[in-house]
Amino acid sequence: MTLLALETSCDETSAAVVRDGAVLANVVASQIKLHAEYGGVVPELAAREHLRNLIPVVTAALAEAGVSVAQLGAVAATQGPGLPGALMIGFKAAQAMAFVLGKPFLGVHHHEAHLYSPWISPDAASGRADFGNFQPNVSLIVSGGHTMLVLVEAELKHRVLGETVDDAAGECFDKTGKLIGLPYPAGPVIDRLAEQGNPKAYDFPRPLLHDANDDFSFSGLKTSVRYFVRDNPGILDDNQKIRDLCASVQAAIVEVLVAKTIRAAKRNGVHCVTASGGVICNRALRAQLAAACAKARLTLRLAENKFSTDNAAMIGILAERKLLAGKPPTSLEAEIALNWALA
Ligand code: KG4
Ligand code: ZN
Repeated sequence: MTLLALETSCDETSAAVVRDGAVLANVVASQIKLHAEYGGVVPELAAREHLRNLIPVVTAALAEAGVSVAQLGAVAATQGPGLPGALMIGFKAAQAMAFVLGKPFLGVHHHEAHLYSPWISPDAASGRADFGNFQPNVSLIVSGGHTMLVLVEAELKHRVLGETVDDAAGECFDKTGKLIGLPYPAGPVIDRLAEQGNPKAYDFPRPLLHDANDDFSFSGLKTSVRYFVRDNPGILDDNQKIRDLCASVQAAIVEVLVAKTIRAAKRNGVHCVTASGGVICNRALRAQLAAACAKARLTLRLAENKFSTDNAAMIGILAERKLLAGKPPTSLEAEIALNWALA
């Protein structure tokens, strides 16, 4: 079956064509530049930009895949969670397409799709997902909007172990960047600056590191950066000190994410850790997760960067798995689900 998937939950307009577990096309129009001057995503602008980008992105994905609309066997879209105006554009467009084509429609949970993006990566040449090697796993989803640990007991069977009680880790990167004058989104910039900085230069808190739960908290860390910059204003005039500050904040975020992920995997008796979400592009996080998993004898599957950030391929891959598992399609009258909890 050939499936078209749309993702418009935040600031990426994406369309993908998926067939038999292979990603034939995954086109993403990023709105980063549009929102950069405001220092964060402006919901109204995001929705308008999705309206502008959606048809060109769908057209490009179909052309890249060499597939015509008439060949589609199903249409899927992100149903939630996400920004209301943004979600509505892709969700309603996909429902309309399914209606006109007389094909099944699938509304997909954005975070559930992230759980499956690490399985897309292994065969980069064909983009074929590797569900043949699927193992129960603890999955870390870490982006600008979310930070959570999920136990995936079997395909399509999962339980949230813990999540952030305040800011997401990506938000902590971005707000730290704002405090020291870096452009939005600051995560990738901090990643680069930290490379030449000393992660032990300054001591920042590791929130909830030793708590016996799987929750995260990053707003206190952001506040301690604010006080640190206020009390050491000269730091911003010294490029090396800025690099040291970036490395030190990054080290605090990465240590908490890695330690809590490994602990959750061990406690739940799984032998595999997976991870996705924009922050998984962070090179220190990727390296330290790899080292910690090797030490704990855990298999690690990291989503490729292009499947870590928001993309429609993961929506299509999960929609196809659901259809194959005999799950019923979503009603064409269904609405978006803004705060849809991942059970
Ligand atoms: O998944 P994503 O594209 O969008 C959502 O937030 O849903 O993630 C974007 C987040 C931003 O906070 C961005 O700063 C962060 O991912 N990010 C990074 C890196 N690349 C993206 N954070 C740290 N290091 C990176 N290399
Ligand atoms: Zn996401």
